[in-house]
Amino acid sequence: MRVEYDLERVAALLPRDELRYRESTMWRYAELLPVADPRHILSLGEGWTPLVRLYGAERMMKLRKLWVKREEQNPTGSFKARGFSCALTIAREAGIRKVAVNSNGNAGSALAAYAAHAGMEAYVFLPQDCPGLIVRECLDYGAHTCLIDGLIHNAGQLIAEGKEEQGWHHVGTLREHGRAEGKKTMGLELAEQLGWRLPDVIIYPTGGGSGIIGMWNAFTQLRELGWIEGELPRFVCVQEEGCDPLVRSLASGGQFRPLQEEAGSSPTGLRVPHPPDGEALLAIIRETSGTAVAVSREEIREGQRALGRQGISSSPEGAATWAAMTRLMDEGWIGRQDEVVLFNTSHAMKYVEHPAPRVPVVKDYADWRRLMRK
Ligand SMILES: Cc1ncc(COP(=O)(O)O)c(C=O)c1O
Repeated sequence: MRVEYDLERVAALLPRDELRYRESTMWRYAELLPVADPRHILSLGEGWTPLVRLYGAERMMKLRKLWVKREEQNPTGSFKARGFSCALTIAREAGIRKVAVNSNGNAGSALAAYAAHAGMEAYVFLPQDCPGLIVRECLDYGAHTCLIDGLIHNAGQLIAEGKEEQGWHHVGTLREHGRAEGKKTMGLELAEQLGWRLPDVIIYPTGGGSGIIGMWNAFTQLRELGWIEGELPRFVCVQEEGCDPLVRSLASGGQFRPLQEEAGSSPTGLRVPHPPDGEALLAIIRETSGTAVAVSREEIREGQRALGRQGISSSPEGAATWAAMTRLMDEGWIGRQDEVVLFNTSHAMKYVEHPAPRVPVVKDYADWRRLMRK
């Protein structure tokens, strides 16, 4: 699902040094995003998030350089804003009016926000244990919101079954190219913010994996443009124990296999037992000499405290990157000479205890149709 660009044309239209005069959103890279007419761009101010150097932690951990990319500062409190800004721009350009997503939470609220801004109708399907505050956000953005008696892939199945009858445009992970292209801008920004260099290691909390695919696309395009040179960073995919299909597949040395048993991890963006393009993720990890790590709930909690002591408030997903870094340093996989970037993909506050709003719970599409009389 890679979008091909005429990179010669991009280079002619967008000299690298001109970027400094561009707006401070991800749309500074409009020529590298799949929008035909810039008047269709749907923006709430996403992207160009701070890349903060953690000097104290570098000294303490004896690391060459360490940064955290503060994705929680995006408009909807998570990096998901990037994907939906792009996906709904494309949808708007195509005249689409009804959009639907299956999500663990943050994608649902981001879709709801961007659809509201575009005046589109949004349908969001979330697992029953989705954090209450996120469900509340979806409702406040005006989305038709339902909980599913199952996990994110069951919700995806519901949308796949109903999309024709209901006229839904399915914007679930890797169902269309806009979300991965939007997330590509994390990689473009990283390169620009580091002065057109890349770090040695990127640690990214991985669920469906479109962020990894997006960043890999970014770096390969930048290399083709001649804006960066050299090796790509080693990609580290972090998962939580209890739902670690990438870790297991990598260890087996073979092809990607979705999780066979029931997922036993916490209800966060990391709980994706059947990532739609696990094979592509494995290929990127292997190609970049990266790795995959499963961290425990306790390690994640400790990561939140450790990042907190650096002045960074992190979501469980963001904190998982700290936990993975600590583990990989103990194992010697990350060494003193390495420059490392962690992605704090959403806001800690999204997970603050909040009473669960009352919304319908459904089993599958037939059940949803019956309940909604559609
Ligand atoms: C906060 C957060 N971090 C990471 C992820 C995983 O992102 P990706 O689908 O790019 O692997 C999610 C997905 O829901 C998320 O909400």
